[in-house]
Amino acid sequence: MSEIRMEERGRLTLPADYVARHGLGAGTRLVFEPIEDGLALRFARPDARRAYIEVTARCNLDCAMCVRQVWCDAPDEMSWETFQAVIEGLRAFADPSSPSGQSLRRITFGGFGEPLAHPRFPDMLTLAAGLEVGMTLTSNGLLLDETMAERLLDAHLDTVVISLDTVHIQAYQQAHLANGVDRVLDNLRRLQEMARVQGRVPPRVGLEFVVMRSNLEWVEQLPDLAQQLGASFVILSNLLPHTPELAAEALYDREEPLPLSGGWALKVGDWLLWGMVRAPRTKWGDWRRCRFIEERALVIGWDGGVSPCYALMHSYPYYIYGRLKNVSRYVLGNVREQPLADVWSSEEYVRFRAKVREMRFPSCVDCGMACTFAEDNEDCWGNVPSCADCLWAQDIVGLWDFAGRTLVLCHIWVFHRVKTQMWEYHSLEPVITLRSPKEPTSLDAHDGENHLRHPNSHSPL
Ligand SMILES: C[S@@+](CC[C@H](N)C(=O)[O-])C[C@H]1O[C@@H](n2cnc3c(N)ncnc32)[C@H](O)[C@@H]1O
Ligand code: SF4
Ligand code: SF4
Repeated sequence: MSEIRMEERGRLTLPADYVARHGLGAGTRLVFEPIEDGLALRFARPDARRAYIEVTARCNLDCAMCVRQVWCDAPDEMSWETFQAVIEGLRAFADPSSPSGQSLRRITFGGFGEPLAHPRFPDMLTLAAGLEVGMTLTSNGLLLDETMAERLLDAHLDTVVISLDTVHIQAYQQAHLANGVDRVLDNLRRLQEMARVQGRVPPRVGLEFVVMRSNLEWVEQLPDLAQQLGASFVILSNLLPHTPELAAEALYDREEPLPLSGGWALKVGDWLLWGMVRAPRTKWGDWRRCRFIEERALVIGWDGGVSPCYALMHSYPYYIYGRLKNVSRYVLGNVREQPLADVWSSEEYVRFRAKVREMRFPSCVDCGMACTFAEDNEDCWGNVPSCADCLWAQDIVGLWDFAGRTLVLCHIWVFHRVKTQMWEYHSLEPVITLRSPKEPTSLDAHDGENHLRHPNSHSPL
């Protein structure tokens, strides 16, 4: 960056090429921030890329690990008017004529509650579809019946993440739901089958699993289960323990890696995909990076309150390395009172994002001082709220943003062509030694199911 000089009466002129590259026309808002060795000018424009929406904080289950067991906020559901304000607010990020172009890429219906339990969820999906951005649903899957599946397909929901861990399975039993697991699995299969029969692109399916001491042996089986269900990714998260009993279940001080096998091949529509497990870190380290801030995400609670991340969207206690911490909800504005773009580009929010991006926080976990700042989500540098011991920023808890990515191996047509070539070479043995797989894959006799077998394995991948 070239040098610039102060002009008369405190004026600065930025280099013309920089102004042109960043579209800094007259009237562009910038937030001025004094920093240790100078000043920073931060862009204050509607450039959010992802929005997480908590359409309800109510749920049809009562999982023992969930923040809903301990939170201090009253759970309720989003009113239709608030949801309309959310979608109207998001248009400012989706409008190609906005100064930053089309910035919004994905909406995730998630938060802490069950989106499908909202009585108007199908209508919400239809309204949100008008934004023409990617849409993800995070759900426990129990309410995904045929009617709901039809509405999801109609709205072109492209990604469904189903929570399927031992705590959810225990919650089915507690709720006296006979065959809860089968119901969820059947719902998923029916969704995919309906898409296939109707000739639609099926949504990408992912599984989410909260890994703990008592369910560690399940982890190895997840790729098999994912392949059987046609899921193209599995997201593993560590547990954020909200009680002393659950703190004993947390795994994130572990030297050994999690027992994970490789990925799996999967046919989705006309594409051959490579399924992957995304595993969390299990050890606190120097490396800190907030995915919410990096991905330019914002989180909207059921009452329209806007927060920077899942970690700060409710008030609740949790235990971190043996220490109790009380998180207070951090809200930067409300869509019922202000356009979302104004909240996003407010001075406080712009400064907060800059601070987190640069991680201007101490590191509480390995500091060694026995202070009490962290108990109230503050730190010794004066930050309130503080990100100084955030497990999200360590990738120890929650990898939800991964849900938008899948590795595509190739188009099925290409796969068939390459495989045919391999068989031709094989038939010329021993002159050409390039060998075909021992067992042909069942894609040869494709019947709409996924029977791919890895050539080196006896178990279906
Ligand atoms: C809170 S739920 C909300 C969406 C939906 N009801 C569901 O269960 O998928 C979102 C995700 O958070 C996970 N989760 C719940 N409690 C957790 C905890 N204490 N630590 C880590 N993840 C948790 C759930 O397993 C789920 O995958
Ligand atoms: S289903 Fe989801 S929101 Fe409901 S209690 Fe379980 S983890 Fe929490
Ligand atoms: S570092 Fe943690 S607490 Fe801070 S904004 Fe990111 S997720 Fe939220």
